[in-house]
Amino acid sequence: MSAFLWGAATAAFQIEGAANLNGRTDSIWDTFSRIPGKINNGDTADRACNHYELYENDLDLMQWMGLSAYRFSISWSRILPNGIGEINQEGIEFYNRLIDGLISRGITPFLTIYHWDLPQALHDRGGWQSRESVDWFKQFTQVLADNFGDRVKNWITINEPHCIAWFGYYRGWFAPGIKDLQSSIDVVHHLLLSHGYAVTILRNSIPEVSIGISLGLTPVSAASNSPEDIAAADFMDGYDIRWFLDPIYGRAYPQSVLDRFKLSPPLHKGDLEIISTPLDFLGVNFYLRQVVKNSPENEFFGVSGVDTPDAKRTAMGWEINPESLKDLLIRLKDDYKPSTIFITENGSAWDDVLLNGEIDDEERISYLNSHLNAMKDAISEGVPVQGYFAWSLLDNFEWTHGFSKRFGLIHVDYETLIRTPKKSAYWYRNMISEEKKIASSISVNPVKNIPR
Ligand code: FCB
Repeated sequence: MSAFLWGAATAAFQIEGAANLNGRTDSIWDTFSRIPGKINNGDTADRACNHYELYENDLDLMQWMGLSAYRFSISWSRILPNGIGEINQEGIEFYNRLIDGLISRGITPFLTIYHWDLPQALHDRGGWQSRESVDWFKQFTQVLADNFGDRVKNWITINEPHCIAWFGYYRGWFAPGIKDLQSSIDVVHHLLLSHGYAVTILRNSIPEVSIGISLGLTPVSAASNSPEDIAAADFMDGYDIRWFLDPIYGRAYPQSVLDRFKLSPPLHKGDLEIISTPLDFLGVNFYLRQVVKNSPENEFFGVSGVDTPDAKRTAMGWEINPESLKDLLIRLKDDYKPSTIFITENGSAWDDVLLNGEIDDEERISYLNSHLNAMKDAISEGVPVQGYFAWSLLDNFEWTHGFSKRFGLIHVDYETLIRTPKKSAYWYRNMISEEKKIASSISVNPVKNIPR
């Protein structure tokens, strides 16, 4: 068994900046961010943390923290400015420098192929709503495998298809801002198909590769024991969780959700086999629990969210409920039996205050600690969690919230771009160093005890 990985995660669009530098073109999030009213305070990610130029500094911070792994994503339009076709060598070289910098510091790269930033050029050709997107994703995946597969062995195909599709194409909250249920159903299907094909491409191109997908999994509780509320919670669970896990693990799209949708995915013969191509691991992104009730008058499938007034919440308004992480992990083991799980995102936003050069973010530490304990409880019940990635390494562009919500272990001053590790970064660093000591004593002892 390999050592447990302690990591942190980011995404290209949220940290890189350098939006127009060295050949990068717009993604759908660049376009969306420019529409007045879409992003808090009119923020754009044009500069963000300027990780594109300050990556060496960020690599040093990762090393200082003692990270054993780092999860990042690739900006598609930095590599392929037209989405397909001609490769932008400067884009390849940026990620080469990043990957080499990780490896030389002993940090294992986890590469996410797609974290929401579709090239605008491809959206203009029909985007994820078109089945052609599957071919575009295959080409992009092959380019990445050919260029980075010699050094990157851990691959995540897609991050949180539910946010991409439900928020981007049904609710209209996220890029590209479309509000159409059938489109969003089509988009999920094309994302999952792209995922399935990518698994085979990566497996055929990269020796000793390990491949997964990162799903955003938000457990659901019913507001009461009434059959109507329980049915509402079951729908929500189907919509947010089973709609993705079921096809990936070889089942059909859940019937109870199809019943409320009254629409169907654009299934072709053989699609479900492709979508369920076996994986090496499941990536779990976990933040909160949701509580729902039956609301026949609500146009959102007759379901609405319920406030839990006693619950403690983060600056996002998200309920803190670490027990539901433990329950979720046990359910995943029982229902889907993944051979390995990585927690690929977990973290919290707070109204951090920088005072005398320090950020005392006790609440973030407490959130991290309680979720790590929940994870360890699940591991002791046999759930095969092999690594944990805190979201996020740095404060960054939090999508529609712009720079107003800070998730980082490291504070970023968006004027000067100066990075300051928060108290939580020191806490995480210390915790990792203690955990590594325990792990090395465990692996050494049995050898010492062999009688001669
Ligand atoms: C997840 C996203 C990630 C970040 C966190 C807070 O849904 O994957 O990019 O925004 O939420």
